[in-house]
Amino acid sequence: MKKIIITIDGPAASGKGRIAEYISKRWNLKHLDSGILYRIIAYNILKKDINIDSIKDIHKFIISDTKLSYRKFKKLRSEQISKIASKIAVFKFVRNHVNNFQREFVKKNLKNNGFVIDGRDIGSVVFKNADLKLYIDVNEKNRAKRRYKQLIDNGEKSIYHEILKEIKLRDKKDKLRKYSPLVKPYGSHMINNNKSFENTINQINKLIKKI
Ligand code: C5P
Repeated sequence: MKKIIITIDGPAASGKGRIAEYISKRWNLKHLDSGILYRIIAYNILKKDINIDSIKDIHKFIISDTKLSYRKFKKLRSEQISKIASKIAVFKFVRNHVNNFQREFVKKNLKNNGFVIDGRDIGSVVFKNADLKLYIDVNEKNRAKRRYKQLIDNGEKSIYHEILKEIKLRDKKDKLRKYSPLVKPYGSHMINNNKSFENTINQINKLIKKI
């Protein structure tokens, strides 16, 4: 049976993760959060005390990084890791490393109906031929409010205006970078996630039923 692939792209704190988790449960699809992979690399770079201002040192680390694995843990969500992840995500060699991992992940995990994968370039670069491509749209202020709440819930100190500034900066980095910038992927459906979660998933479930 053909495995279906649903991609979810969108800017920082747009709610992609929550939407992907919902789709994963509702439709029995395996969830892969590509942001986690960039965050794990950022975490390891920090742990190994690698100079994040040296492309050469980051490159050296990436070519030796044979142990990239998909693990989620609380520390990955800190603002420090968010900043490093978005900084290293501009490099082509980092993106290739993460993209290879994602394609292998799909090849290896075939015991389910398919996959729901979220990130910034999934429908535009990594899985261009996906069965359904979604692009999540939420205004900056709503995203900052959600991110602020998430950090407070995680026990991190947080200032709303700082978060809004950080989100604008990450958007700029993601949209203007040379390799795989954040775009609305060709053939994707724009999902408005400014209203309730129920409203969002209703829009999505209608589209999934068609595939
Ligand atoms: O989605 P999340 O905020 O966890 O992603 C962390 C960082 O990784 C983002 O700020 C973004 O710069 C980068 N990223 C990316 N491409 C992806 C997923 C994440 O560039 N597909």
